[in-house]
Amino acid sequence: MQQRSIETIVPAPQFEEGGGFIVHRPFPTAQIDHLDPFLLLDEMGPVTYGKGEAIGAPDHPHRGFETVTYLLAGEMQHRDSAGHAGGLRPGDVQWMTAGAGVVHSEMPSDHMMREGGAMHGFQIWVNLPRADKMARPRYQEIPSERIPTWRSADGRVSIKVISGKVESTHAVIETHTPIVFLHLTLEPGASFTQSIEAGFNAFAFVFDGTLEAGGSIGVVRPHTAVVFRHDGDAVTIRAARDEHPLQALLLAGKPIGEAVARYGPFVMNSREELVQAFEDFQSGRMGHIPAEVVH
Ligand code: FE2
Repeated sequence: MQQRSIETIVPAPQFEEGGGFIVHRPFPTAQIDHLDPFLLLDEMGPVTYGKGEAIGAPDHPHRGFETVTYLLAGEMQHRDSAGHAGGLRPGDVQWMTAGAGVVHSEMPSDHMMREGGAMHGFQIWVNLPRADKMARPRYQEIPSERIPTWRSADGRVSIKVISGKVESTHAVIETHTPIVFLHLTLEPGASFTQSIEAGFNAFAFVFDGTLEAGGSIGVVRPHTAVVFRHDGDAVTIRAARDEHPLQALLLAGKPIGEAVARYGPFVMNSREELVQAFEDFQSGRMGHIPAEVVH
């Protein structure tokens, strides 16, 4: 296999989203707008809230893409304009196809709002092709125990296969366009090679431990994205000989190759479609969260 080389390293410094929500965001930033089909990566936290301090994202809309939430620590609850409600615990994944539009809230659980605690996780926005942007909203809610884990023969590499596959270990989540989404844990000094299809954009995001990149880059520390070139058919992730394991996400996807028009929570193909999305939201055509939903 021909290894892909590293194109760029993108630090994701901590900042506060509206309302004081702490994230590390490698893109969209001034350096990278998006990595087709990936529109956004947020590392939520890590943060430890005191009693009554936990915050989330109250009612807001989405149209034209998918939001993927993967929780590592804490508890979240979700409600939407179609009356759907659910919870997320560590290791769970929610793959939401917003499609034509939802209005939803993403908040810490009631228990966490009261008592505080550690919150850490990820939200990734995956674009939809034109033909699927106005699809009916759909949820795939996968509890941790249903996410398959691949382990190397020597036990030094373990991988949660959230979408795509590692060798013969296949994810349970279905995606509109081909997406690989892996959570890698490598013991110090271990390495792992994943084949990546030609033409796919691929990047890793380091969030614990140290990645050994070698060459002029040296090592890559947490809260940093590593974007790969298209010059090979595999990527190798190597953990430095550190005191503790490397943890990273590895994402790859087939580019959609269409125009991206984005404004806040809407991602369409043209400015006119964005205006339409905004009007549909303003006039209530994406619905409201019913007050009587009990979660
Ligand atoms: Fe959202």
